[in-house]
Amino acid sequence: MESMNHESSHAPNVQNLMTGFVRPALRTREQRLNPFPWYRACLSQGTVLRDETSQSWDVFGYEEAQFVLKNHAHFSSQRTVDGQNVLGNYAPSILNLDPPRHTQLRRLINLAFTPKAIASFQPRIETITHNLLDAMKQETQGKSTEVDLVAALAYPLPVIVIAEMLGVPPEDRDKFKRWSDLLVEGPSDLRPETIMDLMTRRAAGRKELDEYFRNIVQLHRGKDDGTLISALISAQIENESLSLEELLSFCVLLLAAGNETTTNLIVNAWRCLLEHPEAFAMLRENPGLIDGVIEETLRYYSPVQATSRIVTEDIEVGGQKFSKGDRAVVWLGAANRDSRIFENPDTFIPTRSPNHHMAFGHGIHFCLGAPLAKLEAKIAILAMLSQIDEVSAVPTDLTPIISGFVYGVKSFPIQVTWA
Ligand code: HEM
Repeated sequence: MESMNHESSHAPNVQNLMTGFVRPALRTREQRLNPFPWYRACLSQGTVLRDETSQSWDVFGYEEAQFVLKNHAHFSSQRTVDGQNVLGNYAPSILNLDPPRHTQLRRLINLAFTPKAIASFQPRIETITHNLLDAMKQETQGKSTEVDLVAALAYPLPVIVIAEMLGVPPEDRDKFKRWSDLLVEGPSDLRPETIMDLMTRRAAGRKELDEYFRNIVQLHRGKDDGTLISALISAQIENESLSLEELLSFCVLLLAAGNETTTNLIVNAWRCLLEHPEAFAMLRENPGLIDGVIEETLRYYSPVQATSRIVTEDIEVGGQKFSKGDRAVVWLGAANRDSRIFENPDTFIPTRSPNHHMAFGHGIHFCLGAPLAKLEAKIAILAMLSQIDEVSAVPTDLTPIISGFVYGVKSFPIQVTWA
C-alpha cells in the first residue's frame, strides 16, 4: 500500500480512489438504501462541501455539478495513480481519458455504437425479455408466486444483450456476472486489509477478463459479422483505429458500465412503482407514461449516484477554492434532488416536465449507453406489465449493493399473479 500511496499534485492516492465515495454518513444498510436525507442535509449547508476524511470535495448542487462535468479542462477524468490504472497497467478506457485522446476514441466508438445499431437490437431485446418472462412463468406454473426480479429478469437481460451485441456466447454470462460485480464492488469497510483484498481480487478479475476478450477479438477480427466487436475492430477515422488494448478496455467498460447500471434502472423503476401505487395505477391505465416513469426513476433513484474528477488548475466552485490535485466527487444523486432545479425533489412524479436530470452525467463523457439502457428498461417493464394481473413487493429487508457509486439492491422479491 505504502509504495502505491505516492502522491503527486496530480495523483490521488489509491485508498482515496477505492474509498473516496464512501462517506461516514453512508455506511449503514439504511443509509445506503436511503442516502437522500444526507444529500438534503448537505445541500442545506452548501452546494459544495469539503470532506476531511477523504480529503476531497463533495459537489452536491445541480449547477455546480454541471459546471464541474462541463469544464473538462479544469477537471480531469484521468483518475490514475502515477499514470497507472488502479487495476493494473491497462490502456485507460474513454471514461478515464481527457481530450484530445477522449475525443478521438469517442468518435471511433461512435461509428460502431450508433443509435441505429442500438435501435436495430430492439427485436432481440424483446425476444430475450419474453424468453426470460416465460422461464419465470414456467417455474411458477402460471400461479401467483414470489420471484426475485433481479435474478429472474433485471440482471440477465442487459448481460445477454451486451454479450450478443459484442458477439460473446451467452453461456459465459455467469463469468460475466462475477467480473462485473467485482468491477463495481466497493470495500465493505475502510481497513487497509479490506481495500488491499478488494484491489487484489479486482486486478485478478480484470486480468481474466482481458484474456477472455483477447480471444473474442481474435474470433471476430477480419469478419464483418454484424457484431459490435467487429464494427469496433474495423472502425477507422483518418487511418486511425482502436488499438487492441483500447478495444479490450472498451469491452471491459461496456461490461462494467453497462450491466449493473441497467439492472439497477429496471429494479429501481419497479421499486418506485411499487412504493408509489398511484404512479403504478397511472402507468397501468396509460402505458404511454413509461418514458416518464423511466426518466423520473433515473432522477429519483439514480443508478449511478456519483462520479469524480481531479482538479488540474486552481479554480473556484460554489464559492469554494479547489486546488490543483484535489479530488471532486460529483454527487449526481444529490444534484438530481436539488430543489433549486426540481420542484418537490423528494416526490416521485412520472409526469415531471422538464426533467433534466443528470443520471447519465453531463458534457463530453455523457453516457454512451443511455439510449440502450432506456430501451431495455422500457421493454422489460412494459412486457412485465402486459403479463401480470397483480404485483406487490414482498415485505423484506432489502440488501443494498455495496458500491461507492452504484445505487441498487442485491435482490428484489416480488409477489406476482400472472395474467
Ligand atoms: C458514461 C451512467 C448504462 C456505457 C456514463 C456516465 C454516467 C453513466 C453517469 C458518465 C460518468 C462520468 O462522467 O464520469 C449510466 C447509467 C446507466 C448506464 C445510469 C443505466 C441506467 C450504460 C450502458 C452502456 C454504458 C448500457 C453501454 C452498453 C457508458 C460509456 C460511458 C458511460 C461507454 C463513457 C463515455 C465517455 O467517457 O465518453 N454512464 N450508464 N452505460 N456509459 Fe453509462
